[in-house]
Amino acid sequence: MEKNIESHLIEKRVFRPSREFGKNARIKSLAQYRKMYRESIRSPDRFWAREAKELIWHRSWKKVLDWKAPFAKWFVGGQLNLSENCLDRHLAGPRRNKAAIIWEGEPGEKRTLTYQQLHREVCRFANVLKRNKIRKGDRVIIYLPTTPEAAIAMLACARIGAVHSVVFGGFSADSIRDRIADSGATALITADGSYRRGTIVPLKNNVDHALSGGTSVERVIVFRRAGNEIHMEEGRDLWWHRELQYVDANCEPVPVDSEHPLFILYTSGSTGKPKGILHTTAGYLLGIYATTKYVFDIRDEDLFWCTADVGWVTGHSYVVYGPLSLGATTLMYEGAPNWPEPDRFWRIIEDYRVTILYTAPTAIRAFVRWGDNWVKKHDLSSLRLLGSVGEPINPEAWMWYHKTIGGGRCPVVDTWWQTETGSILITPLPGAIPTKPGSATLPFFGVDAAVVDESGEEVGANVGGKLIIRKPWPSMLRTIYGDRERYRKQYWSEFKGRYLTGDGARRDADGYFWIVGRIDDVLNVAGHRLGTSEIESALVAHAHVAEAAVVGRPDEMKGQAVVAFVTLKGSVAPSTGLKAELLDHVSEHIGAIAKPDEVRFAEALPKTRSGKIMRRLLKEIASGKTVTGDTTTLEDFSVLAKLSEEEVSSGTRERKISLSGL
Ligand code: WTA
Repeated sequence: MEKNIESHLIEKRVFRPSREFGKNARIKSLAQYRKMYRESIRSPDRFWAREAKELIWHRSWKKVLDWKAPFAKWFVGGQLNLSENCLDRHLAGPRRNKAAIIWEGEPGEKRTLTYQQLHREVCRFANVLKRNKIRKGDRVIIYLPTTPEAAIAMLACARIGAVHSVVFGGFSADSIRDRIADSGATALITADGSYRRGTIVPLKNNVDHALSGGTSVERVIVFRRAGNEIHMEEGRDLWWHRELQYVDANCEPVPVDSEHPLFILYTSGSTGKPKGILHTTAGYLLGIYATTKYVFDIRDEDLFWCTADVGWVTGHSYVVYGPLSLGATTLMYEGAPNWPEPDRFWRIIEDYRVTILYTAPTAIRAFVRWGDNWVKKHDLSSLRLLGSVGEPINPEAWMWYHKTIGGGRCPVVDTWWQTETGSILITPLPGAIPTKPGSATLPFFGVDAAVVDESGEEVGANVGGKLIIRKPWPSMLRTIYGDRERYRKQYWSEFKGRYLTGDGARRDADGYFWIVGRIDDVLNVAGHRLGTSEIESALVAHAHVAEAAVVGRPDEMKGQAVVAFVTLKGSVAPSTGLKAELLDHVSEHIGAIAKPDEVRFAEALPKTRSGKIMRRLLKEIASGKTVTGDTTTLEDFSVLAKLSEEEVSSGTRERKISLSGL
């Protein structure tokens, strides 16, 4: 096994669920978890059928699972509607006038939508979609800030069976264009602008650029958010608020088959362009429903705050669909955690009495750095449960989160999952599973996770290996949109019939999972996935660049930082100006989140005889280590020396952390 998937961390601290928490939780003990887990693995059909009965169906399923590896169909023959499960079902009882969404804008506006009000807005907007000839199965791009309108647009698509693809507001025009082309979307929903650290991000402007060369998009619906001046293209662009004048609030949910596509979400992979991860209706809903119920143990009186942007899968599953499917109150915040000051999160928790906070390690590390005084100014006693997601959380950050934010009284659930998995797969259950700082602990119900070596054999305790999932689960991705072969190859071919996560992990003697991070060419920067090859192709698209290799190096704040090694075309001389130009270039092609933290020019890149770039060497150079190990396959030995010299003269680096899109 490669060195880099071994983990040497030994963490001895164990935190048992308090008696108080355990008493009230749905799953009250380790024994109860184990019993249910055993059943979920031995008789998944029975287990999931029981859970699925808590949802609203138009027609019951005939078969729980149809598995022809690697293609799964769950709840075959069933029909349901996701927006009905998130809205209509709550209107019949006391939740009707309960807050569904509590929203705060970055400049400070506050809005609350009850279930009744949200239902009405979703129905009206669904009618706007219908009025604009958007039909069941059509793809709709959503490029909106984290506002109630994002949730309304998503739910309205689901209501009529249209397939949404949310694009994170930090992505550039080129990224939008690629996603339109791949999905064949005919409509796009956006806003004039959004707020980020006090400035306005020109969303509509980016959309205009994306559409300029002609695309499949025929309709653009624009929500007025920031009031910035924008261009409205006659015959293509419509104002959200004007369209509402023409519709009423009656819109019956369209029953769709269990396997009807719900959304496509693009994410970085190890090769080429981002892949469109396709999720379908019933299985996805069941996954987020069951995890929100058991992992967050959510209650009617809770105020649940997941700080993710709706543009990421965490925003889909735990800002919008999970909490709403349980009739909970979800808090949405539009902006940055340090605007206007680094205590914005703590202020929000105090103001609204948030009870459950779900955020990312990169944010937690930033808070640690900003200092405890920002926290101490606020009363956080309403919190009862804390969650972490997006990257491995280092034990010290975990301890700080537990003590300083949770006052030592809140369980911390470190939840491991992916865009592909749809919902949380490895996680503590807060009333049942003792936690160890830095470990995502044990698999969720129905999840058959294992750590294996290169030959697919399960490894022993504390041995590093590849994390795989051996059985299908309801909220798994169904395919890569438009590319079944890539889906098979990427996820199911290395170990036939088993799902390859791309993460490295080990299990300790108690069977606890310790996730080490990606072992493929995917970086995890501030909790966001970036493909090295995506950044490389953006760089190579610059007229002066001959070749580029992008690697990650460990970074205290962001988890990983992006380092680009670039060779220039013949007559071009390296310069600081050119470095800046390359950074802008990557921003334009992908988005500011993909900007390398460091660009290093090299005369040539180290390669094997077969022409493969030796990334291991580059990684070692990037992290400032001296190069060790076997170098005999290097084509040009002088290359290494030159790269190391360059390291000395690489000058000042931009060290600013970007918390975009948390
Ligand atoms: C990483 C985000 C360690 C992992 C939900 C995974 C984690 C990738 C954790 C997916 C965690 C996510 N501990 N690593 N609790 N959660 N990851 O698709 O490398 O944006 O493969 O989904 O994030 O990122 P994605």
